[in-house]
Amino acid sequence: MSSSETRSLMVRDLIKEFDAPGGSNRVLSGTSLDAEAGETVAILGPSGSGKSTLLNIIGSLDRPTSGTVHLGATDVTSLSGDRLASYRASDVGFIFQDHHLLPQLSALENVMLPTIAARTGDGADARARDLLERVGVSGRAGAFPARLSGGERQRVAAARALINGPALLLCDEPTGNLDRDTGMQLIELLRELAADGVIVLVVTHNEEQAGLLERRLLLRGGALVSWEARDG
Ligand SMILES: Nc1ncnc2c1ncn2[C@@H]1O[C@H](COP(=O)(O)OP(=O)(O)O)[C@@H](O)[C@H]1O
Ligand SMILES: [Mg+2]
Repeated sequence: MSSSETRSLMVRDLIKEFDAPGGSNRVLSGTSLDAEAGETVAILGPSGSGKSTLLNIIGSLDRPTSGTVHLGATDVTSLSGDRLASYRASDVGFIFQDHHLLPQLSALENVMLPTIAARTGDGADARARDLLERVGVSGRAGAFPARLSGGERQRVAAARALINGPALLLCDEPTGNLDRDTGMQLIELLRELAADGVIVLVVTHNEEQAGLLERRLLLRGGALVSWEARDG
C-alpha cells in the first residue's frame, strides 16, 4: 500500500505570482525545501509572507507559476484527474487554524469521513478509534465538536488528517486559536506523530513552539532561510 511507504519531500524553485492591480504580486520567488520521512519543520514568517501559499502548493490545493514539488517519485505539480484526487485524499493531510470539523458528526465520524473519498472505508471505524487514542482523546469519540475543547478539536482534526495514512502532514497555524499550554501540547503531539515516518510541516508565529520542532525555516522575501532563535 503506497500510504505506508516513507517518502521524502523535495520542493524546488517555486515561483508564485498572483494577478494584482497594475501587474502581478510575486509571493514566492524561488522557494526550495527538502524534508525526510519523520522530520518536523517549523515555517515562520510575517503575515502575508506566503506561508499558506507555500503549504497550499505542496498540498496541491494551488499551483505554482513555476517550480516543482516531489513527494517520493510523485511530481505533485503535474498531477491531474484521479491521480490528483488520490494525492489530496491519501498522500497529504491538512490541519488548519480552524478545525473544520463538521458540527453534525461525532468526533469518531469526523475522523472516518476522509475514508469515503479515498475509498478506504474497510476497517475505518477501528482505525479511527486507534487514532483517537493515539492523539489522546479516545474518551471523546462520541462527542460532537461543540462539546469539545479547542485542544480536543485540533486533536480530532489531527486524527482525521491521518486516517488515510498520509506521507505528509501540513499544519497551517494549527495552534492559532489555542492558549499557550494547549498549543505546546499540540506541537508535542505533532512531534510524536512524526515518529511514524510522516513529514510534518508546521506554520507558526510562535517561536517557543517552533523550538520544539527539529528544524526552523523563515520565509522572507519569497525564499526560505534557516532561522535560529535569538535567545538560543
Ligand atoms: N488567491 C489569491 N489571490 C491573490 N493574492 C493572494 C491569494 N492568496 C494569497 N494572496 C496574496 O499572497 C500573499 C501571501 O499570502 P499568504 O500565503 O496567505 O501569506 P501568509 O500565510 O504568510 O500570511 C499576500 O499578499 C496575499 O494577499
Ligand atoms: Mg497564512
